[in-house]
Amino acid sequence: MEPRFGSPQTMTAEEALSEVTLRPRSLEEYVGQQQLRQNLRIFIDAARQRQEALDHVLLYGPPGLGKTTLAHIIATEMGSSLRITSGPAIERVGDLAALLTALEPYDVLFIDEIHRLAPPVEEVLYPAMEDSAIDVMIGKGPSARSLRLELPPFTLVGATTRAGLLSAPLRDRFGVLFHLDYYTQEELVQILSRSATVLGVSLLPEGAQEIARRSRGTPRIANRLLRRVRDFAQVNHLPSIDGALAKEALDALHIDPLGLESLDLRLLTALIDTFGGGPVGVEALSATIGEEADTLEEVYEPYLLQAGLLTRSRRGRVATPLAWHHLGKTLPAAQQTVFPS
Ligand SMILES: Nc1ncnc2c1ncn2[C@@H]1O[C@H](COP(=O)(O)OP(=O)(O)OP(=O)(O)O)[C@@H](O)[C@H]1O
Ligand SMILES: [Mg+2]
Repeated sequence: MEPRFGSPQTMTAEEALSEVTLRPRSLEEYVGQQQLRQNLRIFIDAARQRQEALDHVLLYGPPGLGKTTLAHIIATEMGSSLRITSGPAIERVGDLAALLTALEPYDVLFIDEIHRLAPPVEEVLYPAMEDSAIDVMIGKGPSARSLRLELPPFTLVGATTRAGLLSAPLRDRFGVLFHLDYYTQEELVQILSRSATVLGVSLLPEGAQEIARRSRGTPRIANRLLRRVRDFAQVNHLPSIDGALAKEALDALHIDPLGLESLDLRLLTALIDTFGGGPVGVEALSATIGEEADTLEEVYEPYLLQAGLLTRSRRGRVATPLAWHHLGKTLPAAQQTVFPS
């Protein structure tokens, strides 16, 4: 598969390895998401004081914003062990029962992509989350009976990029719901500086700004671009990464100046070329570019909205003047009335 530099969704082997080294280990090292961090600090301290397991936590937000990282931090801060699995990995009810009954008191069980749990598996989770117990069926046919197994106190941390796909009964059983937001330019610069120190590269402020600008508000992408720019510095025998080098390297890698990837560009191009800039419904857009409406809405649009390239109105999506400008197109007079300046 061709590497998609701008994509937060795909991950290379190199990346999987370096994410482990670059991952902040404590809540103090975790940059940004200030509200979330403050609240989590309180919940963790309170649970520890009461010597109880932390309530079940649901983390949702676009890929690469730090959900898995937070699951590790929660376990570390609680002084507990982390067990890691994912929705698609738990195929049968028995797989989940085995996982749950093997938990030690106060363990943190992390289920990534929790929206992809099979419905029968999900049902086993309900009593586990609510009553710390599971019901297992013994025997078959008329003599079958259900046996209740008590579980030790534990914390379930669920992560999903698609909160909309989570069933209401499952969502309601989480005591704590956190939404992760895109990071600001300053926060990304902070993350990049920390990563540069860990990687042992000299990153000058202008270089960090340039990389941060093209990182789609996403730490995973920021770290990835930093590693690629570092390669340019190394091959060219440059001692540090300044603004000019970062710009040259990122241009050479065809990273869009706003960090947009091909699907973002296709979406904006379709919106402008096919629908005259909108407003147009997400269904029509999805049919035109051949991507699921859900994915557009939950994975791609949030960044375009945040970057000020797109607006959502009741009548549909509208390309902003910035989007027209970014694609090098002239905003027609009719659209200018949509955006009185
Ligand atoms: N708040 C943060 N501060 C510093 N670095 C961060 C932060 N959040 C994420 N990172 C960096 O970004 C990388 C990706 O984060 P993580 O794997 O936690 O994302 P994710 O939300 O689980 O993504 P996915 O949805 O694809 O599983 C981490 O390895 C870490 O280096
Ligand atoms: Mg993850």
